[in-house]
Amino acid sequence: MSEISWVVCGDDVALTERLLDAISGEQPSERRATVAFPAELERRIAEESPQALLIGLGAQADAVLRTVESMPGARPALVVVGPEDDSRLILRSMRIGAREYLPHGATTEELRASVRSLENSLGLVTHSAARAKVVGVMGVKGGTGGTFVSCQLAASLRAAGDSVTLCDLDLRQGDVSLYFDLDPAYTVADVAKRTGEIDAAYLKTILHTDPSGVSILAAPRQMEEAELVGGRHVDTVAEVLGEDADWLIFDLARDFDDVTLRALDRLDLLMLVTNACIPALHHTRRRLELLERIGFSSTKTRLLLNRDSDKNPVSERDLVEFLERGFDAKLPNDFDAARECVSYGKSLSEAAPRTRLTNAFVDLAQSTRSWVGRGGDSDRANRRGLRGYLKRALHGAD
Ligand SMILES: Nc1ncnc2c1ncn2[C@@H]1O[C@H](COP(=O)(O)OP(=O)(O)OP(=O)(O)O)[C@@H](O)[C@H]1O
Ligand SMILES: [Mg+2]
Repeated sequence: MSEISWVVCGDDVALTERLLDAISGEQPSERRATVAFPAELERRIAEESPQALLIGLGAQADAVLRTVESMPGARPALVVVGPEDDSRLILRSMRIGAREYLPHGATTEELRASVRSLENSLGLVTHSAARAKVVGVMGVKGGTGGTFVSCQLAASLRAAGDSVTLCDLDLRQGDVSLYFDLDPAYTVADVAKRTGEIDAAYLKTILHTDPSGVSILAAPRQMEEAELVGGRHVDTVAEVLGEDADWLIFDLARDFDDVTLRALDRLDLLMLVTNACIPALHHTRRRLELLERIGFSSTKTRLLLNRDSDKNPVSERDLVEFLERGFDAKLPNDFDAARECVSYGKSLSEAAPRTRLTNAFVDLAQSTRSWVGRGGDSDRANRRGLRGYLKRALHGAD
């Protein structure tokens, strides 16, 4: 692995030491960190072109943020540690692209998790034990088909012989279990409530297996249980379940809260599901812009046009012009086939074989494999973390 370069900046010596410790105290060891005082931050960045910047906001918080704001060109990936509940500093940090805003009271473990999460999102670290490719699916607005796509993509990958675990991370309104006609005894809320170790053996006991063979980690039964689940549970689930499946699929909520953001950090691929109506397009553009602002790599994003038909209210040329990008896959509108699946908890290949929609999901599974660099069978045989502050800061930004 090549050396990972960080610049750590702060005017509070004790805090700066803790930040340095967070960077150097964990694998990988190939990290290189330089300390810069606020007054020399600009010069250090120009000279060293670091990949990442960790800022501890002290007495000179405004001056430091101003320096970063006025930096020409691309900025390093950024994590900020600052006063708790200072919404002005939090928002300002987010506007300059901070991936994470942690409070001064964050523990060393939290700081390290943040460092690792950022490196992971930059593709600087690979999770050595994980063999699953992680795919997130998000509808750009309510009812565009995010859950339908998650479930049917999972079923298609499974039908092609892969092992697939589908986690419902739409914690308040998740309906993956409904789409598979399951009545889950255990859900992701049980992961959060668990006091003992969360290992593969435990997680296996709370997964539900659909007759199609897809393993499902259901969303909480009660809406209020969503509050129990945080980013660290996403990390645990991704790490443990990722060791034991070819694919881990997250059905994502549309809020960019801690859970969603931590899931985004884990993704090899994000599928944004939209359709050809004006409100969905408007939300697609906003979502693409937001993903860019938080530094999610556009190379990992795929745009899916769902419910495509020759009666689309907007022409494809206009769609592409408006979004300034094309679609990576199109899924035809088929009300009967979709209803049959959703009403009876079936996969498309069971409920509506030989339809265009079913074929489109077979193609989508194949495209998904190639998008993550999994070409074919021989390839298959060889395979082997923003907290509540960001949630509040981003609230209303989308
Ligand atoms: N290609 C399609 N053709 C016809 N109907 C579809 C298609 N895709 C999805 N649907 C239907 O659209 C409805 C909404 O789909 P879904 O629940 O997946 O949306 P969502 O984006 O997950 O919404 P939510 O905001 O509730 O999370 C469902 O009834 C589903 O059957
Ligand atoms: Mg949904």
